[in-house]
This record gives sequence, structure tokens and C-alpha cells, in this order.
Amino acid sequence: MLKVLKKMILTNGFLWTAYVIPYVLVRKLFRDHRIAFLDRRLKQLETSRNLPGMNSTELNSIIWESWNWEKDGGEEWTKSKEWKQSLIDEVMLKNLKQSETILEIGPGAGKWTETLQKEAKKLIVVDISNKCIEICKKRFHQCNNISYFVTEGSSLPFLPNDSIDFIWSFDVFVHIAPDDVENYIKEFSRVLKSKGQAIIHHAGEGGLHGGWRSSITNQMFAEFLNKNNLILKTQFDTWGNDKRFNVKYYHDTISVFEKA
Ligand SMILES: C[S@@+](CC[C@H](N)C(=O)[O-])C[C@H]1O[C@@H](n2cnc3c(N)ncnc32)[C@H](O)[C@@H]1O
Repeated sequence: MLKVLKKMILTNGFLWTAYVIPYVLVRKLFRDHRIAFLDRRLKQLETSRNLPGMNSTELNSIIWESWNWEKDGGEEWTKSKEWKQSLIDEVMLKNLKQSETILEIGPGAGKWTETLQKEAKKLIVVDISNKCIEICKKRFHQCNNISYFVTEGSSLPFLPNDSIDFIWSFDVFVHIAPDDVENYIKEFSRVLKSKGQAIIHHAGEGGLHGGWRSSITNQMFAEFLNKNNLILKTQFDTWGNDKRFNVKYYHDTISVFEKA
């Protein structure tokens, strides 16, 4: 706890830390439901002072390294079995050609890795948390098509240029601060092959609706792509028959983009 507090002060200063402690307590009291006024105030403080908030690489690293992955293995964020299956079928697999080199950022305990591994000729998983990488290594020890890397939080120096066909990342970029998202996008532009595609789930409205969402917006994300010669194909928050499934609770977005 003291380690987190120290990192909070170092990355965001005293004022933010003094605000966030009662904020966390109030949210706990209301069982983590969004409290619009408090959520908005926190984000205003972060954006006006260009603070990463809870979304710095340092805090992400501590949070996910100490997460209890044994309990639910990341399924605590699965809305329903149907929601998960439709995300796989209608979003992931629809955009994925077989036998490709796939990159997954932030596998956690391997919830999406399980499917990606079956589809990929070669799968590369990258996480900021060594613990997540170790869990995935153990879970997928029988799969010889997976390589594992720990990142410092926004770069992929271990990957060569033009080497990746498809990138997938879900429930990860919602927690990454804008500067790091921009760095990752620069890296995606470097490592993707021509016509390679990426599907990234990210915060859509600047984190104004709670959920420890990053200050990134759909427009910022699109601008980062544009600056790095990546072509945005679509941004959406609903999918499936009758748009039955969504990522609307915290106003998130899924962006699909391609390298020219
Ligand atoms: C909410 S969990 C989601 C895990 C998994 N994708 C899922 O949907 O179950 C966030 C994951 O992103 C990883 N992560 C957070 N920040 C990261 C960063 N900057 N680079 C790579 N991984 C990161 C965490 O370690 C963790 O594995």
C-alpha cells in the first residue's frame, strides 16, 4: 500500500493524491459505482495538469503485478458468456485471417490468448506485468507457437519492423495514459506489415465516466493513428445481431485500423 502511495505522489503530485484517497473510499462505499460528479472532477484535475492519474506505467505495473489472477483469471470483466463469445466471433475472428503472426498486448491471465493461440501461426504476447507473463507461460506451456515479452509500458524493442499481421488488445488501453498510447501507436506503425490490421479496445470519452479509464478520447486516438500513417477503418462500441453487445458502460470504444 505504501509503495502505491509513494508512486501516486511521484507520478501525480500531492494534490491529486489528496483528492484520490477520499475518492477511492467514497467509491468503495457505493460499491464502485460511477459517481459522475467525482469522476468528472478527478479527470478535470488530471487533464488540466497533464497527469497520468492511475494510468501511468508505474501504477499499472504495481496494480496488475499485485492483482489476484488466481481468483477469476480476468473473467471478472466478462459481461456474460454470450458477450465474450460474440466479441470473439464478431469482432476478433471476423478481422483475422488464419496462420498469421499475431501480437497481443496485455494478455492478463490469457482470456483472449486462448483463442488467439489457436488461430495464430505465431503468437507474441506482451505485458507490463511479469506475473501475467508467468501465468500465461504456465497456462499455455503446451503451445509451442507463443513467445512472451515483458514491456516497460509503451514500446516493443524486441519486435522487428514489418513483422506482425494482426494486433489484438482488450481491456488494456482503457488503462494506458495518452502519451503511452501514442508511443504504442508509433510502435504499431513500425511493427505491422503492410495491410496488417489491429483491433484495440480503448477509452473513448477521456475517462469522464469512471472505471479508472485513461484520458484518451476517440478523436485523440484517431489523430495518433493519422500522425503515424495508420488508416482508421472503424470505431464502434456495439456489435452483434441487433447491436446486442457493447462496451458502453464506461463509454469505451473499439478501433480497427490498418497499415497502408
Ligand atoms: C484489465 S487487465 C486485462 C487482461 C486481459 N486482456 C483480459 O481482458 O482479461 C489489463 C492487462 O493489461 C496489462 N497492462 C497494463 N498496462 C500495460 C502496458 N502499458 N503495456 C502492456 N500491458 C499492460 C496488465 O498487466 C494486465 O495484464
